[in-house]
Amino acid sequence: MTHEEKLIIALDLPKNQVASFIGKIPKGPIFKIGMRLFTSSGPEVVRNVLEKGHKVFLDMKFMDIPNTVAEASESAFELGVTMFNVHVLGGPTMIKNARAKLDEISQKTGKKPPILLGVTVLTSMDEAEMSQIGLPGKPAEMVTRLTELALKNGCDGVVCSAQEVATLRKYFGEEFIAVTPGIRREEDATGDQKRVATPSSAIGDGATCIVVGRPILSAADPATETAEFIKEIQNAKRNI
Ligand code: C5P
Repeated sequence: MTHEEKLIIALDLPKNQVASFIGKIPKGPIFKIGMRLFTSSGPEVVRNVLEKGHKVFLDMKFMDIPNTVAEASESAFELGVTMFNVHVLGGPTMIKNARAKLDEISQKTGKKPPILLGVTVLTSMDEAEMSQIGLPGKPAEMVTRLTELALKNGCDGVVCSAQEVATLRKYFGEEFIAVTPGIRREEDATGDQKRVATPSSAIGDGATCIVVGRPILSAADPATETAEFIKEIQNAKRNI
């Protein structure tokens, strides 16, 4: 993965602002398209971004019966995205079937499959909310447990907070992909993110890719801001 691809820019924009925004960003970073933009614009917006030579992380957090998620994974592969995700809470069979479908298409077509990521516990959930849905223990313990489940059943990596990534690296080694949102440079406003990390500390603790939205989306000069993030990624050193 290049230093540029380690930066994932969250395209959290209304439909009519997407084309002009991506026109300002040099090729290299991956664009994250989530359920808001996908619901308003459909796969067309993904195709438009891909046609301009950019890569896409489809952040739809699939969770359904295994057959449906396997078919949605096939659609993501056909669309040509670089990565997409599923909820680990959908269970081991769901993840296994998604993995099997991606591998089957890859063998048939000779194409590299998209990176399959697992979403563990949403960072918006605390211990009280977890217990209301029957999940015991602390969020951090559940994140570790669900990461193990994700990796055992065929995910290439997980989406996790920068606060969790060092622990996950310690338990599960260097091979898996860790994507961390909630990233700000020292000089950025934090917005509604409560626990933020800088690109250097996230990469230092073991993140593979960082997700950045508003600091780049609302920058006066998004291209320069993008270059600053890439520079910081490039200069980051692993702590361990
Ligand atoms: O604007 P900002 O940099 O805070 O955007 C972060 C992006 O990462 C948003 O698209 C947000 O939905 C996503 N995200 C997050 N925290 C998570 C998972 C995803 O901020 N735990």
